[in-house]
Amino acid sequence: MSLDELKLKIKEEVPISNVIGSYISIKKSGSSMISLCPFHSDSKPSMHINDSKKIFKCFACDAAGDAITFVMKYRNLDYVDALKEICQKQGINFDSYQDEKKSNPKLDMAKKILTKTAQLYRKTATTHKFPPYDEFIKKRGLNEEIAATYNLGFAQSKNSLCDYLKSIPNEKDRSFAFSIAEELGLIKRDRNNSEAHYDTFRDRIIFPIWDQFGQVTGFTSRAIRDDQKAKYMNSVDSFIFNKRNILYGFHLAKNAIREKDAVILVEGNMDQVALFNNGFHNTVAVMGIALGAPSLERLIGMTKNIYLGLDSDPAGFKAMERMNQQLAEKGIVAKFLDFAPQKDPDEFVQAQGALAFQTKLDNAIPAYDVLLNKIIPEKLPEVLDRKLEILNRAFEMMAPLRTHLAATERVVGIAKRLGLKSEPAQIVKNYEEYLEKIEAKERNAARFQPKTKVVEPEFIPEMDDESLHLSDLEISELNLQRDEYVAPKKILSKTEKLVVQELVQLPALFSGESTLELLDFITSDEVKKYIGKVKKIILEIDESEYSSVISNLTNTPEYSPELREAVSSALFKYKIKELDLKTKSKIIQDLKTKLQVELLKNKKDELKRLQQICESEVEMTSLLQNLSEVEKSLQALKKSK
Ligand code: UTP
Ligand code: MN
Repeated sequence: MSLDELKLKIKEEVPISNVIGSYISIKKSGSSMISLCPFHSDSKPSMHINDSKKIFKCFACDAAGDAITFVMKYRNLDYVDALKEICQKQGINFDSYQDEKKSNPKLDMAKKILTKTAQLYRKTATTHKFPPYDEFIKKRGLNEEIAATYNLGFAQSKNSLCDYLKSIPNEKDRSFAFSIAEELGLIKRDRNNSEAHYDTFRDRIIFPIWDQFGQVTGFTSRAIRDDQKAKYMNSVDSFIFNKRNILYGFHLAKNAIREKDAVILVEGNMDQVALFNNGFHNTVAVMGIALGAPSLERLIGMTKNIYLGLDSDPAGFKAMERMNQQLAEKGIVAKFLDFAPQKDPDEFVQAQGALAFQTKLDNAIPAYDVLLNKIIPEKLPEVLDRKLEILNRAFEMMAPLRTHLAATERVVGIAKRLGLKSEPAQIVKNYEEYLEKIEAKERNAARFQPKTKVVEPEFIPEMDDESLHLSDLEISELNLQRDEYVAPKKILSKTEKLVVQELVQLPALFSGESTLELLDFITSDEVKKYIGKVKKIILEIDESEYSSVISNLTNTPEYSPELREAVSSALFKYKIKELDLKTKSKIIQDLKTKLQVELLKNKKDELKRLQQICESEVEMTSLLQNLSEVEKSLQALKKSK
């Protein structure tokens, strides 16, 4: 049984009132069940529990969800641990779900090599005395205990990993291990002797990087001397490692993030280690300056209190600004931490200590206030137009938060500080008009670029049951949420556009059945329909009419501007031309491969995204399996080209 099946089994077979009732007491009230809500200080029972809908909802604090959400929230557990606990309390065998775990040799080998490599470098660090390693630990204020927690290692200036791989007795296993280690970027092929390999990491402090379950998926490594090529060198991206989506230290920080209901975001892995070492366990590092969307989702799913603790240089400030905006778009007002004159949190906490860092946290102000302060000059301008310009910049800055009170209050505040005399209501009205204008612009742009939004159905409970006494307002809010999640109309991709162009430009391609094969790999309904229509028309018209008929057919609002553009550029190049069968089938085959590659690449991106928000190891394993299959298919397609 898969973990998802187990979850379904729990939802189907165990009434939600049993699960919640095993933690708090529930009262029957008419046809519904109610209890004191444990998620806020509740004086009268505000939480409603509904067995037929399998949901709970508190009408005072808005906590809502299914049985598993309840346990996650109430017991501060992650998804898998919550399932485990429910199973234990309800007498379900949790371990049985693992029985049918499929094996994936490539993935298994990768995990083995990554774990072994971490052990190897760790052992080097702990069993020999290497001054650079010892100095590093000392200089960074670490001790062996924290080094052990992070499994810090040392890579000497030799081929230790290659030597280890060479020692694998079975020839087949050995060569498989070499090829995987190479794919993971841990070893490289010798340029002068393609039979020989050497270790990638040399003379470096090694930091293993884990996924959210504690499995090593890659490494980052720090140079021990200034003359080394790169200060930090990371694992290459592979089917198991994706640098862009790393939250370094997440597996160590996740419980503290939930417990403290706050997270500190820093740039470097060393900053994460240093803060953790000083007791700030709720810290994660983005390992650079970009917060990937999956990482962002993962964090805001756990807490809305986010401290941006980036480096005190212009790049760090820019990164802070960007992240603040990303968070604002999710309705979150992040706080700003400034470490100047020190350059980063690591140096700050080393120079000033944990207490000073705690004070920084306590006194942190919203990043927005820092940013707004920057646009108001010390000496206020006298000219009205100049003041309005500044107000407009404030509008622009606050726009991601839309009409959140945190935005309108600030906008009004700025107007006042600028000495503008308009009433607050007028300022807010102007701000709203500004929002409308930019939103109209965005809507227009969105027609060219579909946005994909993830839906977590459990968190949008069905709420139409009478016994839950929903007010009209609440119902309309829920509907609003749902409408927002309606999948956008799919418009044509790059390759689909190419297909349209080739077909229109070379209508001879339409004769023959192979054109239809293309349709199987096209996901845009618009393109499918269009190709079908053109194919039909072509049979009925004369060549001389082709351009004008197609042009008339296409230039209607029924089709997207992109499709219309593709067609008109193709018609421009169109020449009457016969194609022999072989050429025709080659072109079609080529287009088919391109479509397949594009589909697989999209699938890969989607899997990588899911990987980052996935909550259980089993799901992760299956995602990784899918990923490796997708990659296999991609390789095969590339070869066939
Ligand atoms: P920094 O240059 O701020 O490094 O880069 P740091 O964290 O202060 O490192 P120490 O204290 O000198 O050891 C911030 C982050 O950017 C990435 C690393 O993840 C680093 O932690 N980076 C930096 C690289 O990937 N490669 C580099 O060459 C430099
Ligand atoms: Mn540093």
